[in-house]
Amino acid sequence: MSPVAIERIPTFVEGLDPRMGGGIPKGSVILIEGSAGCMKSSLSYNILFQNALHHSRNGLYLTIEQPRKDIEDQMAALGMDKAVDKALDSRLTVIDLGELRAFLSEAQESELDVDWFRSVLNQVNSFRRDHPLDLFVLDSLNGLLALCARENPRLEIFHFIKELKSYPMTSILISEVAPGTAWSGGPQGFLADGIIHLEAKRVEDILRLQLGVVKMRKTAHEKQYFPFLVRKGGFEIVGK
Ligand SMILES: Nc1ncnc2c1ncn2[C@@H]1O[C@H](COP(=O)(O)OP(=O)(O)O)[C@@H](O)[C@H]1O
Ligand SMILES: [Mg+2]
Repeated sequence: MSPVAIERIPTFVEGLDPRMGGGIPKGSVILIEGSAGCMKSSLSYNILFQNALHHSRNGLYLTIEQPRKDIEDQMAALGMDKAVDKALDSRLTVIDLGELRAFLSEAQESELDVDWFRSVLNQVNSFRRDHPLDLFVLDSLNGLLALCARENPRLEIFHFIKELKSYPMTSILISEVAPGTAWSGGPQGFLADGIIHLEAKRVEDILRLQLGVVKMRKTAHEKQYFPFLVRKGGFEIVGK
């Protein structure tokens, strides 16, 4: 009996998709984890950008730490310039925390009262009402947690991921971990359907980036770390 074909979201990282059954299973909630500067934001944006460009998929990128213009300029410098195709304006939306704040109800004026996880879900839902949302990136889960004054953030994360999973879209949650840590503890690790780990390794005097797929449900993926390269036209992993 042949397995039922699953629709997948390609990462557009050259060499990676064929090693991952074609991409991320549609509808998953995955983590892209790594320490600062490992290109988590760039890789996540790449998935949205290329899927908008080549598969007409609508994406929403919510940035907590970096202002929207900062992200867009950084990605344009990496070859992901929204100006290359007019259609990208409506297919790829970046919003930042300032814009998310504007979305809060007046009843939640005090930031301590704000349920940030709920606000993000509300924002996502408001987008989904306007046009179908295929892909969502949260940059980052840590950033959102830092805003959260709630007593039990583990429970918040638990409900947040559960709810995202019930939406007919694919979510990428960026998660920053300490250098040398493979992946984060907490409920996100066991709740996520997949974990892609980016790591910077010092080899003599050079910092080399590596990518490994730690976990990807419904997928026979390779369990190996590969050199992760930034090329003018995009990203690439180098297989042995
Ligand atoms: N135009 C570029 N070409 C190649 N590498 C770049 C370019 N711009 C930034 N970088 C690299 O990307 C890193 C930042 O990537 P980013 O995706 O923001 O990382 P993270 O989100 O994991 O902190 C920078 O520290 C730099 O090493
Ligand atoms: Mg980042």
